[in-house]
Amino acid sequence: MNSIVLIGFMGSGKSSVGRELAKRTGHVLLDADSEIEKAQGKSISEIFQTQGEAAFRQLEREYLEQLAVDQRRIILSAGGGMPLAPGNPERMQRVGTVVYLKASVDTLYERLKYDTQRPLLQQGDKREIICNLLQKREPSYASAAQICLVTDGKSLFQVVEELLKHPLL
Ligand code: S3P
Repeated sequence: MNSIVLIGFMGSGKSSVGRELAKRTGHVLLDADSEIEKAQGKSISEIFQTQGEAAFRQLEREYLEQLAVDQRRIILSAGGGMPLAPGNPERMQRVGTVVYLKASVDTLYERLKYDTQRPLLQQGDKREIICNLLQKREPSYASAAQICLVTDGKSLFQVVEELLKHPLL
């Protein structure tokens, strides 16, 4: 199986699906947020607070560029905003097959309603933020991905099984 890049909104399951896929395929698991946190010695929230969102987006871009020359078989869990920056969809496709884990506002809200770690969700009504951001981002997710997998109502196991059987992977 080729390398895979998982994209989608915050809470769409990129990290948990990535972990399970890596276990099943033996690929190297990389979580973009965690890798950036490790490299910077700061949490994502701290990076947003001290350097601002634009600086974080630059770190995401540089991280993707680094991965493009990585020869290993990889499962990458991208950050939710990674596919939006110009050039990143192409960079992600250089890393592997891009899979969009699509979820509805209801599903995302259920998973994110108690979140305190994601800076973009902390100011205002969470459901409204999710709804607005998802609407804006959906076209970018859809066009960046080679595979779109709807995850609503599916267990982690079902999502992973579907991916493992996918003819494009
Ligand atoms: C973000 C998603 C987060 C993280 C940061 C910004 C976004 O990653 O990169 O908080 O813009 O959607 P997850 O999608 O892994 O939560």
